[in-house]
Parts: sequence; C-alpha cells; structure tokens
Amino acid sequence: MIPQKVRDIMNEQIKNEMESYYIYLSMVAYFHSQNLEGMAHWMRCQAHEEMIHAMKFFDHINDRGGQVVLKDLKQLKTGWASPLEAWKDTLEHEQFITAKINDVMGVVRESKDYAAEPIMNWFVNEQIEEEANATKILEDMKRIGDSKEGLLMIDRELAARVFPAGSPLDPVAYAAAT
Ligand code: FEO
Repeated sequence: MIPQKVRDIMNEQIKNEMESYYIYLSMVAYFHSQNLEGMAHWMRCQAHEEMIHAMKFFDHINDRGGQVVLKDLKQLKTGWASPLEAWKDTLEHEQFITAKINDVMGVVRESKDYAAEPIMNWFVNEQIEEEANATKILEDMKRIGDSKEGLLMIDRELAARVFPAGSPLDPVAYAAAT
C-alpha cells in the first residue's frame, strides 16, 4: 500500500505534469502562429512526453492501491512576445518541475517508501535531460540574436525530433488511425 503522504504528493505531481503538457501545447499553438513548424513539432513531442510523465505517476499510485485524484489545472500563459521568451519559459518551467520532483523524492525518503524509489530515480534522471535540452535550445536562441537565418536553422534542427510511436499529438499518426 502506498503511504498517504506519498500518494498525496504524487497526485499533486500528476497535476504539475499535466500543466506542463498544457503549457507546452500552448507553445505548440504559438509556434504554429509564427510559422515555426520545427519548434511546433518539437513541442508536440515534448507535450506528449509530459502526458507520459503524468501517467507514470497515475499508474504508480493505482498499481499500489492508492486513489488517483485529478486536480484542477491552473490557467497558464497562452502567448509569448517572442520565440526566445517561450524558450526562456521552457527552461524556467523545467527548473520548477525539477524542484517539485525533488520534493516528491524527499517525501518518499522521509516515508521510507522504498517501492517508490525506482520511479523517483527515473524522474530525477529525466529532469537532468529535460533541463539540458531546454538549456541547449535557449543558448542557441541567445546566440543567434535577431538573425532570421539563425532562427530558420534552429527551426529546421528541431523538426528532426522523433515522435513517440502512435502519439495522438502526431498529425500523421492520428490521420492513419482514423
Ligand atoms: Fe515532466 Fe518536462 O518534466
């Protein structure tokens, strides 16, 4: 049985991951509006990953006999003044999520809930990658300054991210499935 304190903070983390999904989906819309199709594609992949993160907590709670409670999502930012601002927000958001994951790990350790340590180790490692990806793109965005050619190059580079198989956020996959 999952300890109540662990269940509660994991339910909170489902909400945080779903808010990540939601904010990145807003960025997908923003990037499409700017004709930055590579960035929109990268963010679709990212939004998909966030839903997987939420479901990892969902299934963990459920598999251990706890009650999953889905909470209200906060109204998040829906527009950005520039692509650079969106990437700054992405890194800041990932840093916020890292702090939240550390809080969950803290409660898991405090509760001596050894069954939850493997999944939390996975999330701790995942956050290293999440911050590294966002940092790299932000640094590239800063480096190009106002260069339109530079922006196009980054946009093309980000178009190469591979979609997780069968993602509902992948227009090609859902066109094939319907
Ligand atoms: Fe689920 Fe991007 O952290």
